Amino acid sequence: SKSKNAPGTKMVFVPGGEFLMGTDDPGIPPDGESPQRKVHLNHFYMDVHEVSNHQFQSFTNATGYVTEAEKFGDSFVFEGLLSEEVKSQISQAVAAAPWWLPVRGADWRHPEGPDSSIADRLDHPVLHVSWGDAVAYCTWAHKRLPTEAEWEFACRGGLQDRLYPWGNKLNPKGQHYANLWQGEFPTHNTGEDGYIKTSPVRSFPPNGYGLYNMVGNAWEWTADWWTVHHTTDRQPNPTGPPSGTDKVKKGGSYMCHKSYCYRYRCAARSQNTPDSSASNLGFRCVSPEQP
Ligand SMILES: *[C@@H]1O[C@H](CO)[C@@H](O)[C@H](O)[C@H]1NC(C)=O
Repeated sequence: SKSKNAPGTKMVFVPGGEFLMGTDDPGIPPDGESPQRKVHLNHFYMDVHEVSNHQFQSFTNATGYVTEAEKFGDSFVFEGLLSEEVKSQISQAVAAAPWWLPVRGADWRHPEGPDSSIADRLDHPVLHVSWGDAVAYCTWAHKRLPTEAEWEFACRGGLQDRLYPWGNKLNPKGQHYANLWQGEFPTHNTGEDGYIKTSPVRSFPPNGYGLYNMVGNAWEWTADWWTVHHTTDRQPNPTGPPSGTDKVKKGGSYMCHKSYCYRYRCAARSQNTPDSSASNLGFRCVSPEQP
């Protein structure tokens, strides 16, 4: 059925053209940010902000959609956000990243497990959504996920070869431009930017295209399969490899600190299996046509 009730997220025009994707400078080498390469894109429209809990609720209300985390019965939550009660029931952790715990009953309506809710966070990014959940939402809204190249072009906001959507300084004039981690990761987040967890989807100044929170707040799924091998031949509208095991996510999250996750840069990237969900991973949609 047509999504007559699809929430009207404002979208902005992203002009397309040629840009330098990735970086040689040196970024995080194992992440495959290099080599920097010329990419040409057609124009498109992009949601000005990450899909919010309120918007996702409109989708599930209209369709009865059930997310993968709800089907699995658990999802990954950052330990620092859990109540002692929930933490005491968990025995298993991820060896390489012990601050991630699989929490029974964690899903988009219960971001920190059964004793949490989104009631006071309807304007925050929806979390605990898998890649398939994100595709289902965008399809319902007559949109799609951005390719990695579209996402990165949009992140750059019309600037050339800069680290962040606003330039090269993390905190110009002492101001925060993104929801990141201040303090010692993973033990102490000072919340100097105003937030310990997610922030509303329209917090911090938008970039040159009018896009909010392209870096920080929540990671964003893209359409592409993951690879670290890139040709330096000029690519028109690249869509990534034809298949793979992981999908590319971009932008970093409120958990990113330079010491551990210097991935709140436009060129930065990371990966998850498509069925993954976590308390710092969301998405936004694009459309080739004016909405
Ligand atoms: C979804 O349905 C619930 C229950 O009827 C309602 O409280 C909520 O406001 C609805 N949300 C949206 C965004 O329409």
